[in-house]
Amino acid sequence: MGLLRVVPFLSVLCWLLPLLCSITKCGGSDVYVKFLKAPHAFSHFKSATFSFQVLNTSSESPCSNCILICKLDDELASVCKKGKVKYRTLRDGNHTFELLVYGAGQVIPSSFRILQPNLIYSLLVSLSSAVQYGRAILVMDRNFCTDFAGNSFMRMPNSSVNIHFDRRKVYVNIRTSVPEELLQLDSATRTIQATNDFDRLKIYLYFSAPVLNSSAEILNSINISQGSLLPNNAKRLGDRRFGFMVS
Ligand SMILES: *[C@@H]1O[C@H](CO)[C@@H](O)[C@H](O)[C@H]1NC(C)=O
Ligand SMILES: *[C@@H]1O[C@H](CO)[C@@H](O)[C@H](O)[C@H]1NC(C)=O
Ligand SMILES: *[C@@H]1O[C@H](CO)[C@@H](O)[C@H](O)[C@H]1NC(C)=O
Ligand SMILES: *[C@@H]1O[C@H](CO)[C@@H](O)[C@H](O)[C@H]1NC(C)=O
Ligand SMILES: *[C@@H]1O[C@H](CO)[C@@H](O)[C@H](O)[C@H]1NC(C)=O
Repeated sequence: MGLLRVVPFLSVLCWLLPLLCSITKCGGSDVYVKFLKAPHAFSHFKSATFSFQVLNTSSESPCSNCILICKLDDELASVCKKGKVKYRTLRDGNHTFELLVYGAGQVIPSSFRILQPNLIYSLLVSLSSAVQYGRAILVMDRNFCTDFAGNSFMRMPNSSVNIHFDRRKVYVNIRTSVPEELLQLDSATRTIQATNDFDRLKIYLYFSAPVLNSSAEILNSINISQGSLLPNNAKRLGDRRFGFMVS
């Protein structure tokens, strides 16, 4: 993840540029930020222009489905189009510019809520409907804030969230094992699979991907014209296979 750090020297306006958070798409691809223009760390100008590119780490090309959110100090965050943002009539003092980059998901800025001032906040993240499956990581920048005593934010293991999502369709095959018999047909011996005994017949449902549902839930979604099914204790093969017995 690219992050521009500016070396401070003395003047009137001072800039801090943390890359606050990122959601990157799955598939091993990541994005980074390249700043093309940024004010000096200390500057006497009352305006500041930032321009930047979000590049795909693997292809080095601009990220097409990334959404950039810019935020200055405590002002409302806004979507910054074309990788450029200008701030005018700035007051003297330190300013913080935050750039949030989103891949397959995006934070919904208007959903930001303060649950407990200076302590607990909430926000909603939406995952791009164009992406079928993947992983979104929500992580805070290491040095983005300090407590009242001036201790800087330390990332704990639980300060990032990994979301795996999968909207792909799941298919199911129903299989049953029918006994094999050897049968003499004309002068040849053939193997045939046939039975008229459907007592204790085993039925297996093979899903194309693991499912979260229990055997009971799956059973409820099966219509059976005659008899009934009982779940058996067949191995689940990672929640992809469910076995039942006809009774
Ligand atoms: C980065 O590029 C790769 C290959 O070109 C592509 O599969 C991937 O989706 C891209 N990642 C993003 C976040 O756009
Ligand atoms: C601004 O930031 C600099 C360096 O980070 C710090 O030395 C200075 O005390 C800050 N000034 C104010 C007014 O917070
Ligand atoms: C996050 O982890 C730290 C220690 O690793 C723990 O003290 C803290 O309670 C955890 N916070 C939450 C919200 O789970
Ligand atoms: C399967 O599990 C999902 C997630 O818990 C649930 O939304 C769905 O209703 C369940 N399906 C059935 C047939 O119970
Ligand atoms: C299964 O039966 C229920 C009612 O008993 C019916 O509403 C549903 O359409 C049936 N499903 C199939 C796939 O036949």
